[in-house]
Amino acid sequence: MNRVELELSRWHAVADKLALQQMAIETILASAAQAIHERGQFHLVLAGGNTPRGIYHGLRTAETDWFAWHIYFGDERCLPPVDPARNSRMAAEVWLDRVPIPALQLHVIPAELGAVQAARMYAETLWAVGGFDLVLLGLGEDGHTASLFPDHEWGTAPGSPDTLAVLDAPKPPPQRVSLSAARLSRARQVIFLVSGESKHRAVAEWRAGKDIPARAIMPAAGVDVLVESALLIPLLVPN
Ligand code: 6PG
Repeated sequence: MNRVELELSRWHAVADKLALQQMAIETILASAAQAIHERGQFHLVLAGGNTPRGIYHGLRTAETDWFAWHIYFGDERCLPPVDPARNSRMAAEVWLDRVPIPALQLHVIPAELGAVQAARMYAETLWAVGGFDLVLLGLGEDGHTASLFPDHEWGTAPGSPDTLAVLDAPKPPPQRVSLSAARLSRARQVIFLVSGESKHRAVAEWRAGKDIPARAIMPAAGVDVLVESALLIPLLVPN
Protein backbone atom coordinates (compact mmCIF):
# COMPACT_ATOMS: atom_id res chain seq x y z
CA MET A 1 0.00 0.00 0.00
CA ASN A 2 1.61 3.31 -0.99
CA ARG A 3 1.78 6.34 1.32
CA VAL A 4 -1.25 8.05 -0.20
CA GLU A 5 -3.36 4.92 0.09
CA LEU A 6 -2.16 4.40 3.67
CA GLU A 7 -3.28 7.95 4.49
CA LEU A 8 -6.62 7.29 2.80
CA SER A 9 -7.16 4.21 4.94
CA ARG A 10 -6.74 4.96 8.61
CA TRP A 11 -6.30 1.87 10.77
CA HIS A 12 -7.60 2.03 14.35
CA ALA A 13 -6.38 -0.89 16.44
CA VAL A 14 -8.73 -1.94 19.24
CA ALA A 15 -8.09 -4.52 21.92
CA ASP A 16 -11.01 -6.85 21.21
CA LYS A 17 -14.51 -7.15 19.75
CA LEU A 18 -16.09 -5.37 22.70
CA ALA A 19 -13.76 -2.37 22.31
CA LEU A 20 -14.53 -2.33 18.59
CA GLN A 21 -18.26 -2.30 19.29
CA GLN A 22 -17.89 0.57 21.79
CA MET A 23 -15.72 2.63 19.40
CA ALA A 24 -18.16 2.01 16.55
CA ILE A 25 -21.18 3.07 18.62
CA GLU A 26 -19.42 6.28 19.72
CA THR A 27 -18.39 7.05 16.14
CA ILE A 28 -21.86 6.41 14.71
CA LEU A 29 -23.54 8.62 17.33
CA ALA A 30 -20.98 11.40 16.81
CA SER A 31 -21.57 11.22 13.05
CA ALA A 32 -25.33 11.33 13.61
CA ALA A 33 -25.10 14.32 15.96
CA GLN A 34 -23.00 16.27 13.44
CA ALA A 35 -25.24 15.43 10.47
CA ILE A 36 -28.43 16.24 12.36
CA HIS A 37 -26.93 19.50 13.66
CA GLU A 38 -25.73 20.57 10.21
CA ARG A 39 -28.48 19.16 7.94
CA GLY A 40 -31.34 17.93 10.12
CA GLN A 41 -30.99 14.37 8.80
CA PHE A 42 -28.61 11.41 9.17
CA HIS A 43 -28.29 8.97 6.25
CA LEU A 44 -26.63 5.76 7.44
CA VAL A 45 -25.82 2.60 5.46
CA LEU A 46 -25.73 -0.59 7.54
CA ALA A 47 -23.22 -3.39 7.18
CA GLY A 48 -24.46 -6.96 7.00
CA GLY A 49 -23.03 -10.11 8.52
CA ASN A 50 -22.54 -10.86 12.21
CA THR A 51 -19.85 -8.38 13.25
CA PRO A 52 -22.25 -5.43 13.58
CA ARG A 53 -24.78 -7.33 15.76
CA GLY A 54 -23.35 -6.08 19.06
CA ILE A 55 -23.06 -2.54 17.68
CA TYR A 56 -26.70 -2.47 16.56
CA HIS A 57 -27.76 -3.92 19.92
CA GLY A 58 -25.86 -1.16 21.71
CA LEU A 59 -27.56 1.54 19.62
CA ARG A 60 -31.02 0.57 20.84
CA THR A 61 -30.54 2.57 24.08
CA ALA A 62 -28.81 5.57 22.49
CA GLU A 63 -29.96 9.12 23.19
CA THR A 64 -30.46 10.65 19.73
CA ASP A 65 -33.16 12.18 17.53
CA TRP A 66 -34.30 8.94 15.87
CA PHE A 67 -36.80 10.89 13.76
CA ALA A 68 -33.86 12.32 11.80
CA TRP A 69 -32.30 8.91 10.98
CA HIS A 70 -32.59 7.38 7.49
CA ILE A 71 -31.39 3.77 7.24
CA TYR A 72 -30.10 1.97 4.12
CA PHE A 73 -28.39 -1.38 3.60
CA GLY A 74 -25.05 -1.91 1.87
CA ASP A 75 -26.21 -5.28 0.64
CA GLU A 76 -28.90 -7.87 1.16
CA ARG A 77 -29.27 -11.59 0.67
CA CYS A 78 -32.08 -12.82 -1.60
CA LEU A 79 -34.05 -14.58 1.11
CA PRO A 80 -37.54 -14.10 2.57
CA PRO A 81 -37.79 -10.93 4.72
CA VAL A 82 -38.23 -12.97 7.91
CA ASP A 83 -35.30 -15.27 7.22
CA PRO A 84 -32.83 -14.98 10.13
CA ALA A 85 -29.98 -14.79 7.60
CA ARG A 86 -31.36 -11.54 6.15
CA ASN A 87 -29.23 -8.54 7.06
CA SER A 88 -32.39 -6.46 7.50
CA ARG A 89 -33.91 -9.08 9.85
CA MET A 90 -30.90 -9.04 12.18
CA ALA A 91 -30.80 -5.23 12.35
CA ALA A 92 -34.56 -5.10 13.02
CA GLU A 93 -34.51 -7.74 15.74
CA VAL A 94 -31.67 -6.30 17.80
CA TRP A 95 -32.22 -2.58 17.09
CA LEU A 96 -34.55 -1.09 14.50
CA ASP A 97 -37.76 -2.63 15.86
CA ARG A 98 -36.95 -1.02 19.21
CA VAL A 99 -36.37 2.64 18.25
CA PRO A 100 -38.83 5.15 16.74
CA ILE A 101 -37.18 5.71 13.34
CA PRO A 102 -40.17 6.44 11.02
CA ALA A 103 -40.97 3.39 8.89
CA LEU A 104 -40.68 5.45 5.68
CA GLN A 105 -37.07 6.16 6.64
CA LEU A 106 -36.12 2.47 6.89
CA HIS A 107 -35.04 1.58 3.35
CA VAL A 108 -34.85 -2.20 3.22
CA ILE A 109 -33.63 -3.81 -0.02
CA PRO A 110 -36.58 -5.92 -1.36
CA ALA A 111 -34.17 -8.80 -2.03
CA GLU A 112 -36.95 -11.39 -1.69
CA LEU A 113 -38.03 -10.28 -5.19
CA GLY A 114 -34.83 -11.64 -6.71
CA ALA A 115 -31.51 -9.93 -7.33
CA VAL A 116 -32.23 -8.26 -10.68
CA GLN A 117 -35.62 -6.77 -9.81
CA ALA A 118 -34.53 -5.77 -6.28
CA ALA A 119 -31.37 -4.09 -7.59
CA ARG A 120 -33.43 -2.08 -10.05
CA MET A 121 -35.97 -1.07 -7.40
CA TYR A 122 -33.32 -0.11 -4.85
CA ALA A 123 -31.48 1.99 -7.43
CA GLU A 124 -34.73 3.94 -7.84
CA THR A 125 -34.87 4.41 -4.05
CA LEU A 126 -31.33 5.78 -4.05
CA TRP A 127 -31.99 8.29 -6.87
CA ALA A 128 -33.63 10.53 -4.26
CA VAL A 129 -30.66 10.20 -1.91
CA GLY A 130 -27.44 12.18 -2.25
CA GLY A 131 -24.19 11.20 -0.61
CA PHE A 132 -24.53 9.17 2.56
CA ASP A 133 -23.38 10.60 5.87
CA LEU A 134 -21.90 7.33 7.11
CA VAL A 135 -21.40 3.89 5.55
CA LEU A 136 -20.67 0.86 7.72
CA LEU A 137 -18.96 -2.09 6.03
CA GLY A 138 -17.69 -5.49 7.05
CA LEU A 139 -14.76 -7.42 5.62
CA GLY A 140 -15.02 -11.00 4.42
CA GLU A 141 -12.30 -13.64 4.71
CA ASP A 142 -11.63 -13.26 0.98
CA GLY A 143 -11.51 -9.47 1.17
CA HIS A 144 -15.10 -8.95 0.04
CA THR A 145 -17.21 -6.15 1.42
CA ALA A 146 -20.97 -5.72 1.14
CA SER A 147 -21.62 -8.25 -1.63
CA LEU A 148 -18.68 -7.18 -3.77
CA PHE A 149 -16.63 -10.36 -4.19
CA PRO A 150 -13.24 -11.09 -5.79
CA ASP A 151 -13.48 -11.90 -9.53
CA HIS A 152 -16.90 -10.26 -9.71
CA GLU A 153 -18.13 -6.82 -10.81
CA TRP A 154 -17.55 -4.17 -8.16
CA GLY A 155 -18.97 -1.12 -9.93
CA THR A 156 -15.89 1.00 -9.19
CA ALA A 157 -15.88 3.35 -12.18
CA PRO A 158 -17.61 6.72 -11.84
CA GLY A 159 -21.03 6.46 -13.40
CA SER A 160 -21.38 2.82 -12.33
CA PRO A 161 -24.93 1.84 -11.39
CA ASP A 162 -25.82 2.43 -7.74
CA THR A 163 -26.77 -1.21 -7.22
CA LEU A 164 -25.55 -4.55 -8.54
CA ALA A 165 -27.41 -7.85 -8.85
CA VAL A 166 -25.10 -10.68 -7.71
CA LEU A 167 -26.17 -14.11 -8.99
CA ASP A 168 -23.25 -16.36 -8.03
CA ALA A 169 -21.84 -15.10 -4.75
CA PRO A 170 -19.21 -17.42 -3.23
CA LYS A 171 -20.66 -16.71 0.21
CA PRO A 172 -24.18 -18.18 0.48
CA PRO A 173 -26.77 -17.35 -0.51
CA PRO A 174 -25.61 -17.01 -4.11
CA GLN A 175 -28.19 -14.36 -5.03
CA ARG A 176 -27.65 -10.96 -3.45
CA VAL A 177 -28.05 -7.25 -4.05
CA SER A 178 -25.13 -4.93 -3.34
CA LEU A 179 -24.53 -1.24 -3.52
CA SER A 180 -21.70 -0.67 -5.97
CA ALA A 181 -18.25 0.43 -4.86
CA ALA A 182 -18.90 3.80 -6.49
CA ARG A 183 -22.16 4.29 -4.56
CA LEU A 184 -20.69 3.10 -1.26
CA SER A 185 -17.89 5.62 -1.81
CA ARG A 186 -20.35 8.53 -2.14
CA ALA A 187 -20.22 9.18 1.58
CA ARG A 188 -18.82 11.72 3.99
CA GLN A 189 -17.50 8.89 6.15
CA VAL A 190 -16.91 5.14 5.69
CA ILE A 191 -16.06 2.80 8.56
CA PHE A 192 -14.97 -0.82 8.19
CA LEU A 193 -15.66 -3.15 11.13
CA VAL A 194 -13.09 -5.96 11.22
CA SER A 195 -13.10 -8.58 13.92
CA GLY A 196 -12.22 -12.27 14.14
CA GLU A 197 -9.11 -14.33 13.41
CA SER A 198 -10.64 -15.48 10.12
CA LYS A 199 -10.05 -11.94 8.74
CA HIS A 200 -6.30 -11.97 9.42
CA ARG A 201 -5.29 -12.86 5.87
CA ALA A 202 -7.71 -10.36 4.30
CA VAL A 203 -6.26 -7.61 6.52
CA ALA A 204 -2.71 -8.59 5.60
CA GLU A 205 -3.54 -8.62 1.88
CA TRP A 206 -5.34 -5.28 2.13
CA ARG A 207 -2.37 -3.64 3.89
CA ALA A 208 0.05 -5.25 1.44
CA GLY A 209 -1.78 -3.53 -1.41
CA LYS A 210 -3.56 -6.54 -2.90
CA ASP A 211 -6.52 -5.52 -5.03
CA ILE A 212 -9.34 -6.82 -2.86
CA PRO A 213 -12.91 -5.49 -3.05
CA ALA A 214 -12.57 -3.54 0.24
CA ARG A 215 -9.88 -1.38 -1.40
CA ALA A 216 -12.37 -0.35 -4.08
CA ILE A 217 -14.25 1.73 -1.50
CA MET A 218 -12.58 5.14 -1.94
CA PRO A 219 -14.55 8.06 -0.51
CA ALA A 220 -12.88 11.47 -0.85
CA ALA A 221 -12.16 11.57 2.89
CA GLY A 222 -10.67 8.07 2.95
CA VAL A 223 -11.86 5.20 5.14
CA ASP A 224 -11.48 4.34 8.79
CA VAL A 225 -10.86 0.69 9.62
CA LEU A 226 -11.71 -0.39 13.17
CA VAL A 227 -9.74 -3.59 13.57
CA GLU A 228 -8.78 -5.90 16.40
CA SER A 229 -5.09 -5.30 17.06
CA ALA A 230 -4.25 -9.02 16.78
CA LEU A 231 -5.16 -8.84 13.10
CA LEU A 232 -2.44 -6.25 12.48
CA ILE A 233 0.31 -8.68 13.48
CA PRO A 234 2.06 -9.70 10.25
CA LEU A 235 1.09 -13.18 9.09
CA LEU A 236 3.84 -15.75 9.67
CA VAL A 237 2.99 -17.45 6.39
CA PRO A 238 2.70 -14.52 3.92
CA ASN A 239 1.03 -16.45 1.05
C1 6PG B 1 -23.06 -10.15 3.99
C2 6PG B 1 -22.26 -8.97 4.42
C3 6PG B 1 -20.79 -9.22 4.22
C4 6PG B 1 -20.20 -9.23 5.60
C5 6PG B 1 -18.83 -9.85 5.62
C6 6PG B 1 -18.35 -10.02 7.06
O1 6PG B 1 -24.23 -9.97 3.63
O2 6PG B 1 -22.55 -11.26 4.06
O3 6PG B 1 -22.66 -7.81 3.93
O4 6PG B 1 -20.12 -8.30 3.43
O5 6PG B 1 -20.12 -7.88 6.08
O6 6PG B 1 -18.92 -11.12 4.99
O7 6PG B 1 -19.28 -10.87 7.70
P1 6PG B 1 -19.14 -11.17 9.29
O8 6PG B 1 -19.30 -9.84 9.98
O9 6PG B 1 -20.25 -12.12 9.60
O10 6PG B 1 -17.76 -11.76 9.50
